[in-house]
Amino acid sequence: MLKNVDPTKTAAWQELQSHFEQMQDCTIQSLFAKDSDRANKFTLTFNDQIFIDYSKNRITETTLEKLRALATQSGLREAIQAMFSGEKINRTEDRAVLHIALRNLSNTPISVDGKNVMDDVNAVLAKMETFSHRIISGEWKGFTGKAITDIVNIGIGGSDLGPFMVTEALRPYKNHLNMHFVSNIDGTQIVETLKKVNPETTLFLIASKTFTTQETMTNAQSAREWLLDIAKDETAVAKHFVALSTNTKEVEKFGIDTANMFEFWDWVGGRYSLWSAIGLSIVLSIGFDNFKQLLAGAHDIDKHFCETSFEKNIPVTLALINLWYNNFFGAETEAILPYDQYMHRFAAYFQQGNMESNGKYVDRNGQKVSYTTGPIIWGEPGTNGQHAFYQLIHQGTKLIPCDFIAPAISHNPLGDHHQKLLSNFFAQTEALAFGKNEAVVEQEFTAAGKNLDDVQTIIPFKVFEGNRPTNSILLKEITPYALGALIAIYEHKIFTQGVIWNIFSFDQWGVELGKQLAGRILPELENDNPITTHDSSTNNLINRYKSWR
Ligand code: F6P
Repeated sequence: MLKNVDPTKTAAWQELQSHFEQMQDCTIQSLFAKDSDRANKFTLTFNDQIFIDYSKNRITETTLEKLRALATQSGLREAIQAMFSGEKINRTEDRAVLHIALRNLSNTPISVDGKNVMDDVNAVLAKMETFSHRIISGEWKGFTGKAITDIVNIGIGGSDLGPFMVTEALRPYKNHLNMHFVSNIDGTQIVETLKKVNPETTLFLIASKTFTTQETMTNAQSAREWLLDIAKDETAVAKHFVALSTNTKEVEKFGIDTANMFEFWDWVGGRYSLWSAIGLSIVLSIGFDNFKQLLAGAHDIDKHFCETSFEKNIPVTLALINLWYNNFFGAETEAILPYDQYMHRFAAYFQQGNMESNGKYVDRNGQKVSYTTGPIIWGEPGTNGQHAFYQLIHQGTKLIPCDFIAPAISHNPLGDHHQKLLSNFFAQTEALAFGKNEAVVEQEFTAAGKNLDDVQTIIPFKVFEGNRPTNSILLKEITPYALGALIAIYEHKIFTQGVIWNIFSFDQWGVELGKQLAGRILPELENDNPITTHDSSTNNLINRYKSWR
C-alpha cells in the first residue's frame, strides 16, 4: 500500500533538519581527513559490473541513517511491495505500475485485476522475437520484393527517448539495419529523414501508447503519404508500417493491420516503456538476444531493489543522497555526465524519466506541498561538458550534485583515447571535492618563478573551494546487461524519491494544458483574420505570425 505521509511531519525529517544545521558547513575535505576508510565505506558494487563510489558527498554515516529512517517512515518498503505486486499505485489514472513485469525474466506471476500479466508479456516478447528475425534476416520483403534496410521509429517522449537512447548507447552491438528516429512535429525532421531512405526498403514503427499523440500521428500520416505516393498501392502499408501501442481501435483506424501491431498495456508508463513493445526498434537494432540481456540487467536490479536492505540498496542510497541536497541544501538541479559518447542521450532520457515523474506540486492528498520535489535534470557527455558548463559547477554560486558515469572498458580502444577520457573522469570528481586552496595556488606561482606580490590580485580567481558533491558510477563495460541495470537503478531512484515526497510519480497531468490550448489555437491559424480571443500577449504573437507568414 502507498502510505500517505507528509515527509516534513516525520520524526526523521525533524532530525535531518537539525542534523543539517551541523552538516551545512562541514566539507568533503574534512570528512576524508577524519576517516581514512571513508572511500571503502561509501561504495556499492552490483554483480561485478557496476561500482558506485558515493564517498565524495556531504554526508556521514549518521546522515545516511537518518535518511534511511525517513524512507522507512515514509513507507518505502510497503510502496515497493505495492508496485511489484501490481497494486494500482498510479491512483489518479487508476492504473498499476508494472514496467518491472516487462523484464520479469523469472516469470513469477504478477496479477492485475485477477489476471496474470506475464502471459501477455511473454506472448508479445515472442512476437517481437519472431518479427525481428524476419526483418533482420531479410525474409520480410517490402512492396517491390526487397529486404528492409532502414527502420524509422516515429514516436515522441517515452515512445522515442528510451529507444533512441538505448540504440545509441548500444551501437557497438548493432547489425546492418539503419536506425532513424522522428519525434518532432516540426516537418523538418521527417523531411530530412525521408531524404535518406528508400520507400522500397524502409519499415516505419509507429510508436505511441495512446496512438492519438498529435506529433506522432501527423508524422505517421506524412510517412504514409510519402510511401503511397511512390507505391501507389494501399497494400504496401501492411509491408511498411507496424504499430507499437495499447490502442487497437486507433491503430485500426489509421489503417495498420492489427496483425502488425505489437501490444502493451495501460500499466506501462510512457517514460518506462522501452522494455515493452516500444523497444521494438532496440530489438531490430541489436537483435533479440541482446534485448533480453538488457531486460536481464534491469530484472536483476529489480530483485536487488526489492530484496536488499536500504543500507546496501543502490537506488535507495542514490535517491536519499540527492534528496538530502534537494530538500536540505536547496539544490535545484542534478547533472548526469556520462563519459561515453554512445551514452549521449542518457541525460535527455532521464530528463523525461525524472522531471515528468516527480515534477509535481500536489501531494497524495491533493494539497500543495510545503517542500521541494523533483529536481531539474540535465547533462551532456564528458569531456565535451568540461569545455562548456563545468566552469559553473566548479566555481559558480550554485550547488550542483553530479553523477559521473564511465565504462572501464571502451568499445573503441583507439590509442590512448580511453585512458585520456578516464583521466578526466577521475580528475573532475577529485577537483570538485577537494578543490585547490590559496596556499597551493601560491606554491604554483612560486614554482613558475613569479613574485607573489605581482600576482596577489590574481590568486582569488585561481582558488577552487571544492566541496562540490559527486557520485562516480564506474561500469566494467557498457553491455546490454549493464545498461539495463543502470537504467533500472535510475528508475527506482525516481520511485524512491516520489514515495518520500508523497506525490504520484506515474501520472503527467502537467503536460495536458499546453496540448489543450494548442488544439484551440490551431483552427485560429487557418485564416489571416486578427485574433482577439486570448490575453493581449498571445493575441499579439499570433497576429504578428499571421502578418509575417
Ligand atoms: O506528453 C507527454 C506524453 O504523454 C508522455 O508521457 C509520453 O511518453 C508521450 O507523451 C508520448 O505519448 P504516446 O506514447 O501516447 O504517443
